[in-house]
Amino acid sequence: MSSLKGREIVLGVTGCIAAYKSAELVRHLVKQGACVHVVMTDSAREFVAPLTFQTLSGSPVTTGLFKLYEEKEIGHISLARRADVIVVAPATANIIGKVAGGIADDILSTVIMASMSPVLFAPAMNESMWKNPILQKNLKILKNLSYNFVNPGWGDLACGAQGEGRLAEADDILDEITCMLSTKDFEQKRALVTAGPTCESIDPVRYISNPSSGKMGFSIARALIYRGADVTLVSGPTALSPPRNVKFVPVRTAEEMALAVEDEFGQTDIVIKAAAVADYRPANTALQKIKKENKGLVLEMEKTRDILAALGEKKAGRILVGFAAETQDLFSNALVKLKKKNLDMIVANDVSRNDTGFGTDINKVEIIMADGSVEDLPAMGKDELADRILDKIAQIVKKSELK
Ligand code: PMT
Repeated sequence: MSSLKGREIVLGVTGCIAAYKSAELVRHLVKQGACVHVVMTDSAREFVAPLTFQTLSGSPVTTGLFKLYEEKEIGHISLARRADVIVVAPATANIIGKVAGGIADDILSTVIMASMSPVLFAPAMNESMWKNPILQKNLKILKNLSYNFVNPGWGDLACGAQGEGRLAEADDILDEITCMLSTKDFEQKRALVTAGPTCESIDPVRYISNPSSGKMGFSIARALIYRGADVTLVSGPTALSPPRNVKFVPVRTAEEMALAVEDEFGQTDIVIKAAAVADYRPANTALQKIKKENKGLVLEMEKTRDILAALGEKKAGRILVGFAAETQDLFSNALVKLKKKNLDMIVANDVSRNDTGFGTDINKVEIIMADGSVEDLPAMGKDELADRILDKIAQIVKKSELK
């Protein structure tokens, strides 16, 4: 599982100009179903009012150790115990130094000291402070003690200079939190995912393709990373940024995808083919732009290689998962593909609806296993579906390891 739904997150905000960016982080966390409890230091409150965080999180903000009402409602020990993860964003040199030195003299450092939960720091500060050897020594101490970090980025800093020290983007912090909270059931597994469309050129400025956005394949690659796998993502052209920590191989044509997949296959345990690969390509690509004439144009097409079928012939102990995009007879057409391509599982994708499938944020699928069992899933977001697909693959992995 790599979902934040129902997870308890204590977000510590410290005194830094980037404190306002944590409001955006709270918004994202709440949107993903997490319960967020914000703890602010005195200096954080000089930058942003607690009401901002209270409104966005829907929970009271904790601001001090000695506030009788707050301690009665939700004491620092209870906060320390209930947190699935403690996130400190932005984290100043001060809080990093305090924790590294074992100091617990305010609400946030006390909650961290009293907690057994994993802690993630997202540092933000002026570049000279970031490079200060004392801070670097403190980072080392904390890393050796298994504290987690999302490093700051490079760019314009509040002091007017440019350099390293900007708070990491909310998406990257969110990514790290999800990763920390995910079950690592794909650890030590090497997975190869394909995504997106292929583009087959007619001439230098025209091509044949399909509306795959890559969202489904990218969601699967991201969920695999969260769940501990080593991931290679081979993708046709999309507008998406590759998930963090994947080995990304961009391709354009079906043939380029076939070559990239062949290259990786030897060192892969699990292949998931979510790409929409062209079945046909123009037999000849014109070297110059084809001129418009006063008659129709007939293109001769030739078959591309079926990448997945070729993998099925040499699969050995690997797990092969395909997708089948169908507009009719979903189950029977997908079952034929599962058998013909020697797959362990196929995700039969109903692309007859306008609101699911290609280019949208949701898919409506049936998951068919090699033994013929089927799970008919309701339409759901591609991130959630990625997890459901991985749950099924995890079962296959478990079974194959018992053999
Ligand atoms: O990218 P999105 O916008 O998120 O859309 C997702 C999706 C609709 C593209 C995806 O969920 C999906 O259904 N992908 C499979 C689409 C498809 O091409 O299905 P198919 O039935 O034509 O192919 C069956 C399987 O064989 C697929 O796993 C495909 O990757 C593979 N194949 C097909 C042709 C070919 N030459 N080589 C292949 O490996």
